Amino acid sequence: MEKLYHLTKAEQLTTSIVADLLKDAEGFNKSLKAGVRNFKNLSGVTICSLFYEESTRTRFSFERAALLLGATVIGTENAAKFSSAAKGESLEHTIKMVSGAAKGHLGYADIIVLRHPENDAADRAARVSSVPIINAGSGADEHPTQALLDAYTFQKLLGRLDHFTISFIGDLKFSRVVNSDAFLLSQYPGVKMFFVAPEGLEIRPELKSYLSQKEVEFEEASDIKAVVRESDICYVVRVQKNRIKDSELLLAYQRNKDNFAVTEEVYKMSQQKGTFFCHPMPVDEEEQEIRPEVENLPRVKMFEQAGYGVPVRMAILAKVWQNTKI
Ligand code: NCD
Repeated sequence: MEKLYHLTKAEQLTTSIVADLLKDAEGFNKSLKAGVRNFKNLSGVTICSLFYEESTRTRFSFERAALLLGATVIGTENAAKFSSAAKGESLEHTIKMVSGAAKGHLGYADIIVLRHPENDAADRAARVSSVPIINAGSGADEHPTQALLDAYTFQKLLGRLDHFTISFIGDLKFSRVVNSDAFLLSQYPGVKMFFVAPEGLEIRPELKSYLSQKEVEFEEASDIKAVVRESDICYVVRVQKNRIKDSELLLAYQRNKDNFAVTEEVYKMSQQKGTFFCHPMPVDEEEQEIRPEVENLPRVKMFEQAGYGVPVRMAILAKVWQNTKI
């Protein structure tokens, strides 16, 4: 099996790596449930949590995972402002410094968890780093650890990662999560995908050609109500206001936002199929793509999904660290 060192894109998560990590995550989940808090996998290790872009779940779950495993965490939640980036330093210089590229034993961290607004940031960082880089979200492009925690969630909900139908709903153009999830799931047989997006925010052509090449069955639609009865999972994402430059695109979403939301009607329509509703969060309070009246219903799983971030990220950190030694 290939060895996971840097994790920058979901394509690296082959089915054997996914199976291995999900098994480890399940083990961590069970131990956490049994009350274990003092894992030793990363004892003596320093994790640098370097976030150039906002985060709640990803940063906290990574930091909690690291601390539970016995690591020390250093970092900043606003690297754009509180690191030397504010003084004009390049990402490459920061990464070289933190990773100890000049003299390894003088580096500041053993693993770097990086979130950055630019699409190629994680790859650029990996090129100059002398310690593993874990991509915690790069621009609108990739979010591989979210894809892994989503895979863990689907496995828990459906008992499998093959032969099921998933609909991705919302702003699919700027969602790095949808991109990474689709890459990961494209490897499994019998996964059918629906993509439901407003005009102008459809999935990117590169993803479409990738899926066609991999012979994944997929269809595009413009209303969640047209696909929900056929979907085992409806995966809803917010409209990425922080990335959309063209206000027309946002208006196109807002004009038809009921078509991209889990409403009571949609929930009821999916009763017979037993569709589960997932969302990487945050839910946009203004757009309410998961309506408040359904968010606590049993088939809406987003809070549970976010919780799986802890054992899944424990599995990633433990594996990557172990791989630095063999
Ligand atoms: C997502 C992200 O940051 O890409 N959130 C997350 O990591 N759970 C989704 C989003 O911002 O919409």
